[in-house]
Amino acid sequence: MFFRNETVTIINENVLTTRAVEKDSIDLIVTSPPYNVDIKYNANDDNLSYADYLAFSEEWFSRCLQWLKPDGRFCLNIPLDKNKGGQQHVGADLTKLATALGFHYHSTIVWNEGNISRRTAWGSWLKASAPYVIAPVELILVLYKERWKKTSGSGQSDMNKEEFMEWTNGLWTFPGESKKRIGHPAPFPAELPRRCIKLFSYVDDTVLDPFVGSGTTLVVAHLNQRRGIGIEVDKGYCTLAKERVSLVANQLRLF
Ligand SMILES: C[S@@+](CC[C@H](N)C(=O)[O-])C[C@H]1O[C@@H](n2cnc3c(N)ncnc32)[C@H](O)[C@@H]1O
Repeated sequence: MFFRNETVTIINENVLTTRAVEKDSIDLIVTSPPYNVDIKYNANDDNLSYADYLAFSEEWFSRCLQWLKPDGRFCLNIPLDKNKGGQQHVGADLTKLATALGFHYHSTIVWNEGNISRRTAWGSWLKASAPYVIAPVELILVLYKERWKKTSGSGQSDMNKEEFMEWTNGLWTFPGESKKRIGHPAPFPAELPRRCIKLFSYVDDTVLDPFVGSGTTLVVAHLNQRRGIGIEVDKGYCTLAKERVSLVANQLRLF
């Protein structure tokens, strides 16, 4: 165990081998795994062959399936497709893989990320021979373990009418997060876990992020009265996550 307070736990281990999460204990998983786009993380190789990436995904998906409660939900932030090193339909492949393992499909949210990284590849510039088409969006795949209707937990929701109306429209538009501001190579913006947590879980539920990075999911869970568990293989990122969680916890204590 790397860090634990009353509501937040950080586990500095590999998602594939940790034994720190109990079976059937998690209400909601919100996560953004490595995208296999050669990002320079400290501790893991983000440049696997596509077949190895799918095998890795299958392995950690099956662990998540075990960790979820029967009415547990899984919000998976992934790319729509892969454009470098051969075109791949990543979203379609991971959806298929998860449902083949036993997850049930609920829906796909398209995240329209205004400031997605600048285009570098055009294929055949101004020519029809081989142009590249790249959509400036990511997906949030919404899956569940056994049944969609949620019966466990406090039953207490904390979103208002405007939030419910906006978030149940499956096109979400908000900007990405700055790597520099957070000090991590691929953070997601707090708005992403905030919407997932408030739309899909109750107050006091337990939310897991198996690739917690800089701890964004834990910060948002804490701010919204959920318990948070984060797994992260890199110790430096665990330290960053702990610092971010401690900062908001201290700020909340001042009020
Ligand atoms: C896309 S980032 C997640 C960023 C996070 N959402 C945030 O807001 O900071 C993926 C994270 O997964 C971690 N990671 C990669 N392989 C892992 C593994 N096998 N087990 C646990 N963590 C891993 C990386 O170190 C990286 O911090």
